[in-house]
Amino acid sequence: MPPKDGPILGASVEREVFAQHRELDSLFEEVLDSFRPEGPPETTLEALKELREALETHFDQEDRLYYPAIWALRPDLEPQLRTLVDAHGEFLAQLDRLGTLLDRGERAEASSVFDYLSAVFKRHEDAEEAALATLDREIDAAH
Ligand SMILES: [Fe+2]
Ligand SMILES: [Fe+2]
Repeated sequence: MPPKDGPILGASVEREVFAQHRELDSLFEEVLDSFRPEGPPETTLEALKELREALETHFDQEDRLYYPAIWALRPDLEPQLRTLVDAHGEFLAQLDRLGTLLDRGERAEASSVFDYLSAVFKRHEDAEEAALATLDREIDAAH
């Protein structure tokens, strides 16, 4: 039997993380759209700024709030979640690289870096959601 607060906390963290991921997906889409040839470069910079701010907030919550709460209850998930936490800095570094490319007017290169970054981030989200989904199965098993 899991601790009394375990499944409730796990379910609410899972809901929150999933909801934030879908918001981040929309922001990634906005940046993607802004790379269409007819879009002005300012639109890309604005969309990137918004995405970067949302990612910083999301990463900070995962690093300091959500995942430590999960691994306090499920130590078996700690190594997996720590690996995901360790990847956060690289996403922000890649966004900075994108900003530099755009400043230099290297839009085609920036667009392909962004495509790659989007695919890697999607896999990151999938890995997190798979880890959190194990909490669901624990709840189901308890009923
Ligand atoms: Fe993450
Ligand atoms: Fe996440």
